Amino acid sequence: MVSIPSAATPRSVTILGSTGSVGGNTVDLLQRSPECFRVEALTAHRNVDLLAAQARSLKPRFVAVADPEGYRALADALSGTGIETAAGPEAVVAAAERPADWVMAAIVGSRGLAPTMAAVRRGAMVAFANKECLVCAGPLMIEQVRACGATLLPVDSEHNAIFQVLEDRAGAGSVERLVLTASGGPFRTLEQAAMAGVTPEQAVAHPTWSMGAKISVDSATMMNKGLEIVEAHYLFGIDEARIGVLVHPQSVVHSMVAYVDGSVLAQLGTPDMRTPIAHCLAWPGRMPTPSARLDLAQIGQLTFEPPDEARFPALALARRALQAGGRAPAILNAANEVAVAAFLARRIGFLDIVRTVEAALAALPTGTLETLDDVYDIDQQAREAATRLIAGRE
Ligand SMILES: NC(=O)c1ccc[n+]([C@@H]2O[C@H](COP(=O)([O-])OP(=O)(O)OC[C@H]3O[C@@H](n4cnc5c(N)ncnc54)[C@H](OP(=O)(O)O)[C@@H]3O)[C@@H](O)[C@H]2O)c1
Repeated sequence: MVSIPSAATPRSVTILGSTGSVGGNTVDLLQRSPECFRVEALTAHRNVDLLAAQARSLKPRFVAVADPEGYRALADALSGTGIETAAGPEAVVAAAERPADWVMAAIVGSRGLAPTMAAVRRGAMVAFANKECLVCAGPLMIEQVRACGATLLPVDSEHNAIFQVLEDRAGAGSVERLVLTASGGPFRTLEQAAMAGVTPEQAVAHPTWSMGAKISVDSATMMNKGLEIVEAHYLFGIDEARIGVLVHPQSVVHSMVAYVDGSVLAQLGTPDMRTPIAHCLAWPGRMPTPSARLDLAQIGQLTFEPPDEARFPALALARRALQAGGRAPAILNAANEVAVAAFLARRIGFLDIVRTVEAALAALPTGTLETLDDVYDIDQQAREAATRLIAGRE
């Protein structure tokens, strides 16, 4: 029996990626209900100043930075507090291994795989935001979740919405389709030719959500929705053909489940990640959040349109990678991470992101995925292939 966090039964929590957008929203919720939670560990990549400030406020037992060069500054910033400090990728894994009931997986990219798997292996409740892990290692991660008795609580607003409206009691075969909603991103109505010249600043200016740079660019290419199709397939065990995408610019309906009797259940709310994060933090209970309340009369109209797959080819590419299976989703993910970083560094244009991913998928054998070493191996190969392709474009 999982207890609901309260002052009488506080839940111990760890945040992997506490300095990011999802991590920061999680910290905000913990600061608002300190009596219900005890913080075991916090981690970051290299933002030592913010990590140390969070640690002084939340008083975790352990704090780690992935970048070894950040160690001295972190240790100095927290000296005298009694908080244990460490650095390096293995220290982030050690943070995940510590005995917290609940772990927020909010590192960006496949670098989050090893720590997330460490939390899964302990049988923890894992609040799962770091979708790239499931894209590159889906079958292996789901197998470990089952074998170790872990619980994956979906944080992504779309998957959290589906999680909230999936009826366990309805039984196998009752779900006809999942429908993921998409804002359409900042270039929803832009001609493809005009997308060639957009800047990183324009791409990260998301119309409805405030998020980290990588996921904001993924939303602009709609690769984010492609990654989410893969994520939904593994999280909910629904085949790709039964996962639809609907563009909904207001970002109020966060996704839907269509049942075989014609019923469609949706979860609604204002676009604030603190709502799905709070749902996972308090699960199976509920906790208050300061998110703006939904006022449908004031919004007036909710609109929906099919995605334009010609202007946003990332969607079909992600579907093809999922259908191909094996190593293809991991190639898609790693090449995309490299291409997005190159776009943000102004080394390639916006349209080159998806071209690079497509070329990397064509260049590498999709093979089979048997072990985590296979994942790390193909992730590295795809990063190298994408790096070469990008150098060829410069
Ligand atoms: N933002 C959202 O609203 C949202 C919504 C749904 C899903 N997600 C998913 O949640 C994940 C996090 O997104 P985000 O927007 O919060 O990202 P973000 O703002 O870029 O934050 C990423 C976090 O990961 C840390 N990190 C980066 N590289 C690392 C490495 N190599 N090793 C260890 N830690 C590392 C960062 O530390 P530093 O700060 O030190 O760099 C930071 O704490 C992504 O998978 C994203 O797709 C995000």
